[in-house]
Amino acid sequence: MVRLLNVYTISAFAALGGALFGFDISSMSGVIGTEQYQNYYGNPLGARQGAITSAMAAGSLVGALSSSFLGDRLSRKVSIQIGAALWIVGAIVQSASTGVPMLVVGRLLAGLCVGVTSSLVPIYQSEIAPRKIRGRIVSLQQFAITWGIMVQYFIEYGCSFLNSTASFRIPWAIQAVPAIVLLVGLFWFPRSPRWLASKDHWEEALRVLAFLRSPANDINDPLVLAEYKEIEDQIRSEREEQSNSYRELFSRKMRKRVILSMAIQMWSQLSGMNVMMYYIVYVLKSAGIANSMLASAVQYVINVVMTIPSILWTDKWGRRPALLIGAIVMGFWLFAIGGLLMRFGEPNPDVDQPYTWIVVGHPSATRAILACSYLAVATFAVSWGPVGWMYPPEIVPLRIRAKSVALATATNWASNFALGFAVPPLLRSIQWRLFFIFGAFNVAAFIHVWFAAPETKRRTLEELDEVFEYGEPLWRSFLGRRESNKLDMLARDIEIGILKIGRPSHVEATYVTTENAHSDRTIP
Ligand code: BGC
Repeated sequence: MVRLLNVYTISAFAALGGALFGFDISSMSGVIGTEQYQNYYGNPLGARQGAITSAMAAGSLVGALSSSFLGDRLSRKVSIQIGAALWIVGAIVQSASTGVPMLVVGRLLAGLCVGVTSSLVPIYQSEIAPRKIRGRIVSLQQFAITWGIMVQYFIEYGCSFLNSTASFRIPWAIQAVPAIVLLVGLFWFPRSPRWLASKDHWEEALRVLAFLRSPANDINDPLVLAEYKEIEDQIRSEREEQSNSYRELFSRKMRKRVILSMAIQMWSQLSGMNVMMYYIVYVLKSAGIANSMLASAVQYVINVVMTIPSILWTDKWGRRPALLIGAIVMGFWLFAIGGLLMRFGEPNPDVDQPYTWIVVGHPSATRAILACSYLAVATFAVSWGPVGWMYPPEIVPLRIRAKSVALATATNWASNFALGFAVPPLLRSIQWRLFFIFGAFNVAAFIHVWFAAPETKRRTLEELDEVFEYGEPLWRSFLGRRESNKLDMLARDIEIGILKIGRPSHVEATYVTTENAHSDRTIP
């Protein structure tokens, strides 16, 4: 019988942290186009709207930077709970806000939460997931993000028909609900076994592993013991090397990877996806679409649906093809939007609008811009969206993973902040040229990935060490390798009795040689 609480349900539940991230992304897009919002907050345009939108990303940047400190000290689980509590306070402040400053403070607080959860949820998930489905489990986070974006947008769309400030207060208050569920529910969930072991809670680490991996909860299950042994080895070598993970982050050996994972998150933001997520209403209005609220709702559905293929097949396709093809195709759609706006648009006579360029009287051009926007969203959803989160934890060893992922996530938020701030004034000043700039960023991302990002699918960290150290030609990494079966081999040795694992408190493994069953050999 399948147990209710298993790796999938725990990861899916933790992904509620991702849903908060999604709520955050679309918490503005569904209200900025409404009269109720514009009247109440004094018609914020350009930099003023940019400041409101990007306050959340600024908070997230700080949250992401503090996440590894919290996650390493208090555990991944408790830190995610702290994040959820912050989110609840932030939601209350936003929905009760009496003006722009209070709204900005509420968004900063909620942002702190998203920074913490967006770094620690993937780490928690990858530390409880079996290696073979790690890619899939981490992409659940992206799936939850897309759901969060869509659900919040629909709530805002529904509330936009209310003719009072309730039209934005209700959606901002409802944001607290998933956070309450996450905060309370996590009390019943285990802490990460790897974190427990790093704090010398060996007994509990073994029990959690047995709970996660063995249907019968059996602490003597060879697979459980093999993984336990692997964690123990890692922690021992870390302690022997006395590695200071902060220094190691920028050591000659790791520098390249840490910078690459930061760059992947930066390119994912510079892909232009968030111009659509945050400001699609402006883009569509500028393209001449009358019911822009409804037209934008469709993009959020596309975003959810197109993430599914990646969850199902990313462990098969590999990361490099997704990033390379994703960048080129995404760039193409953005150049097309820019070109269509340039060719068929004209200055907007209504200067009080957030967009100063408009397409009028060219219904086919309007439809083509709408199609290209949808295709851009679909392209990102199946490629950079999930892979952007999967790749950074995959290319660094466990001992520096939390810190390196925190830096990569902070880069995501720093770029997100800069864009949230810059896009509204740029849309007003350089109009269609903005899409050419984002198109060019995608070309740059393609070139960078081509020369610097190896395939990680089915590769062990040792194999990746070789690639990074000796510069294996990257085209060869397209081919992938056979999956590492070190864990299976350990489990087999335990099962047939030639490897014995000591009990917690003093964990020691000994090999019993077959020729002389009495002479034990400690594993090096
Ligand atoms: C990105 C967000 C983006 C979202 C869209 C995430 O991976 O980090 O910035 O809005 O995908 O689905």
